Amino acid sequence: MCGIVGYAGPVPGGEADGGGLAVVLEGLRRLEYRGYDSAGVAVVADGQLLTAKRAGRLARLVEALEVAPLPATATAIGHTRWATHGAPTDANAHPHVSEDGRLAVIHNGIIENYAVLKAELQAQGVVFTSQTDTEVAAHLLGRAHAELGDLGEAVRAVCRRLEGAFTILAVSADAPGTVVGARRSSPLVVGVGDGAHYLGSDVAAFIAHTRDALELGQDQVVEITAGAAVVTTFEGEPALARPFTVDWDAAAAEKGGHPWFMDKEIHEQPRAVADTLLGRSDASGALVLDEMKIDEAVLRRADKIIVVACGTAAYAGHVAKYAVEHWCRIPVEVELAHEFRYRDPILTERTLVVAISQSGETMDVVMAVRHAREQGAKVLAVCNTQGSTIPRESDAALYTHAGPEVAVASTKAFLSQITACYLLGLYLAQLRGNMFADEVREVLRHLQAMPDAVQTVLDRAEDVRKLARELADSRSVLFLGRHVGYPVALEGALKLKELAYLHAEGFAAGELKHGPIALVEEGQPVFVIVPSPHGRDSLHAKVVSNAQEVRARGARTIVIAEDGDDAVLGSADVVLRVPRVPTLMAPLVTVVPLQVFAMEVATAKGLDVDQPRNLAKSVTVE
Ligand code: F6R
Repeated sequence: MCGIVGYAGPVPGGEADGGGLAVVLEGLRRLEYRGYDSAGVAVVADGQLLTAKRAGRLARLVEALEVAPLPATATAIGHTRWATHGAPTDANAHPHVSEDGRLAVIHNGIIENYAVLKAELQAQGVVFTSQTDTEVAAHLLGRAHAELGDLGEAVRAVCRRLEGAFTILAVSADAPGTVVGARRSSPLVVGVGDGAHYLGSDVAAFIAHTRDALELGQDQVVEITAGAAVVTTFEGEPALARPFTVDWDAAAAEKGGHPWFMDKEIHEQPRAVADTLLGRSDASGALVLDEMKIDEAVLRRADKIIVVACGTAAYAGHVAKYAVEHWCRIPVEVELAHEFRYRDPILTERTLVVAISQSGETMDVVMAVRHAREQGAKVLAVCNTQGSTIPRESDAALYTHAGPEVAVASTKAFLSQITACYLLGLYLAQLRGNMFADEVREVLRHLQAMPDAVQTVLDRAEDVRKLARELADSRSVLFLGRHVGYPVALEGALKLKELAYLHAEGFAAGELKHGPIALVEEGQPVFVIVPSPHGRDSLHAKVVSNAQEVRARGARTIVIAEDGDDAVLGSADVVLRVPRVPTLMAPLVTVVPLQVFAMEVATAKGLDVDQPRNLAKSVTVE
């Protein structure tokens, strides 16, 4: 939530060199998925601080800058906002400026003690011009800078007073060439360029300029200039930041000819699954997970797994539960991270907590990870983002290799999270002796065949697009599934809600008769995810009956079924075919038509697929 960019580099060379302002606007364009309620920039040029900010999308700020340009500069910061305190207005947009107009701040997160700090400042005569919590930081920093004479010292002093989770960046007319950043429980990474340094909420902010980055720790301050990035603690002690190299480039974060990032990311799914599987077995075919830094003895002893995650990532965990329990015979609980912490979960040294997060920054998951570790549990992160908080704070990390996911709605991350969790399940089964080596190898072979199966579904997507255009005016859509089809139904409904703003519900098909069937009315579209008839026969037959039950009550059934499964024909108004795959692999193919459907309904309704209303990628507040 909220995208933050900072730049300190060489003084611009000529008219064509937009300098820091151009770098920051380019970074904001790439970070806009993190929040798009408003955007703003601040630059330091010729001993002055200048700002521009606008409510609405970044495009409005860019238009405003065309009318009233800011000078090219060597020092700049920029912000794209997802509003927490105060409506998305020009006044509440960041940057916020100190009383004397010489220092500007941008901020991501929530300053929890802002009301106390604001009252204190108001008692000293400070007049506030916005409803944000951020403005207190601007005034405190302005005063601290005037008193201490050093921007880094001022940021450290103010950070020691702030409570909550925050990333802040500050620039001052009195510290040209320097940007100071600080983080507590909120993301901030440093880009190391050739004679320039960058700050960003994530590496997308500077990927066009460098792939060399530094991962900051908790409660650290970084001062960047063209030539250096100096890291300290909030107390001013020297601190180390871990260097890493980003494993994707700027082209990976472009649309590449697709109408939406989501469309591109849906089409990248075969690759995301394949890359997540790469290099996971040794010459004998045994599964190896190099990143698994948790002691084997601890993993052998584990008597319970708890998956913590939110939204789509939680549904990936829900899918994984079926496989991991089946393969490893360990009970798996799947818990929404924000609920987990508050229910006093039973955690022991034998509990393995698996935290799934694409961004690695979801605050609810960060807090769940901390809670689990405090209680003595081991935590494994399943994550897609290097340099992010969740893997850093976990005992070990298993990376998905989906590449950058820019569209707010998660797609390729979901498939790669399921893949990574399956690898984890197989690894545990191998380690604990629940499966023989040849059984593990066979499941791995099935997994390795999945990229082609997903590609087959994508090749058939035109039928889904047509159906979506036909159903775009529906008032409500229901999704039914059993077993691994149940979380797929939940995911299909979530995609439709968030992208097309349509009422959509996913149900366990068996639950239907316990209430939800009352929702079914004439013409009601109901997606039914049918398991393979080659798996457990009773499971297949029961879902087919559920489709018949809703159809008998007037529903229009859209059945997702395996090639050759003719038993569904009598209960389907529309059949969407997926290739035959083993039951546990089915979510990797059955979810794809649902993703395409939601994207196409939203497109038909003229909505912004990549940036749906009220949402933001990477939910960094609780
Ligand atoms: C839905 C979606 C969200 C995320 C959730 C967790 O399409 O994208 O539900 O899955 O906010 O995000 P991460 O995986 O970054 O922790």
